[in-house]
Amino acid sequence: MFKDKSILITGGTGSFGKKFAEIILKNYPEIKRLVIFSRDEFKQFEMSNLAQFTNQDKLRFFIGDVRDKERLFRAFDGIDIVIHAAALKQVPACEYNPFEAIKTNILGAQNVIDCAIDRGVKKVVALSTDKACSPINLYGATKLCSDKLFIASNVYVGHRDTKISVVRYGNVAGSRGSVIPFFKKLISENAKELPITDLRMTRFWLKLEEAVEMVIKAIENMVGGELYVRKIPSMKITDLALAIAPNLKLKEIGIRPGEKIHEMMISSEDARNTIELDKYYIIKPESDELKERIKIIGKSVAQDFEYHSGNNTQWLTIQQMQNLINEINEEI
Ligand SMILES: NC(=O)c1ccc[n+]([C@@H]2O[C@H](COP(=O)([O-])OP(=O)(O)OC[C@H]3O[C@@H](n4cnc5c(N)ncnc54)[C@H](OP(=O)(O)O)[C@@H]3O)[C@@H](O)[C@H]2O)c1
Repeated sequence: MFKDKSILITGGTGSFGKKFAEIILKNYPEIKRLVIFSRDEFKQFEMSNLAQFTNQDKLRFFIGDVRDKERLFRAFDGIDIVIHAAALKQVPACEYNPFEAIKTNILGAQNVIDCAIDRGVKKVVALSTDKACSPINLYGATKLCSDKLFIASNVYVGHRDTKISVVRYGNVAGSRGSVIPFFKKLISENAKELPITDLRMTRFWLKLEEAVEMVIKAIENMVGGELYVRKIPSMKITDLALAIAPNLKLKEIGIRPGEKIHEMMISSEDARNTIELDKYYIIKPESDELKERIKIIGKSVAQDFEYHSGNNTQWLTIQQMQNLINEINEEI
């Protein structure tokens, strides 16, 4: 699948990008090159010095901003596959800097699409988030626009052979700024209780490797226009607190702006276009022209179907969470 292919990942120095690069370089040595595209030279320098990336003759670093179309056009020269991971993704930062979020997440997406089509890139996979499903904050809203741009762009690729799809996933367990490192920091500071915004809160539990696997699967199977959602387990935040600190009291502090009780991956509005497969769901595009291309056989979901972290059929036990947290520790 990747033999002699040149792959570029925007936002390649981020959490997803680094894991993706590590897995591709390890498992697909037959690639031609892997290009990391991002703005900050220091993050690229740090990444290039990580053990898994030293002496990698297929790895290239390219400084650029997805807002700068000319630079993207240069970077996409000779590229076969683009993974679009660059984004502004902190909810409060997007809320307070809305124009910046729009420039990176929406106009940046448009630039990626235009350059991919004009450069004859064969496959583009853009990363989406559960926050883009029925969004209640600007980050989610910009990512929903981005998803729609990527899906719709399949209509105007014209005679070119460019396929564009989206992979949506939820919070990565243990990632920077997420609840696990936050709880751990409080415990290391001898906190007497753990703050929980709402005791009913649930979240999906996703490992970075699973997100990378899903993207590789999408590259393998995509026809353009699909939005892939992987089936993953949920957890109760109260159980997570027990898994991390069984003896600490919990204090409910009230839901924060832009936060949901349950994270949504597929809304009931998406249900009429959703098919279920063994390990994932596919949301087909609204456009009949695009929908027709997707021949994958799957089970249609019920009309009122929703996939959110509160109605999941797979739940992690406290013990399973403890094991997973230890795995994360080993990775850090
Ligand atoms: N982390 C999660 O829990 C999660 C969950 C669901 C979906 N996602 C989605 O997955 C994608 C990757 O997330 P991540 O966790 O890897 O993010 P991350 O760790 O914050 O990395 C973001 C990457 O984007 C680059 N970047 C930011 N603005 C850019 C711009 N204007 N032009 C070029 N590069 C830019 C950053 O490097 P520079 O700052 O050096 O440019 C960095 O390499 C995002 O699209 C996000 O929405 C993430």
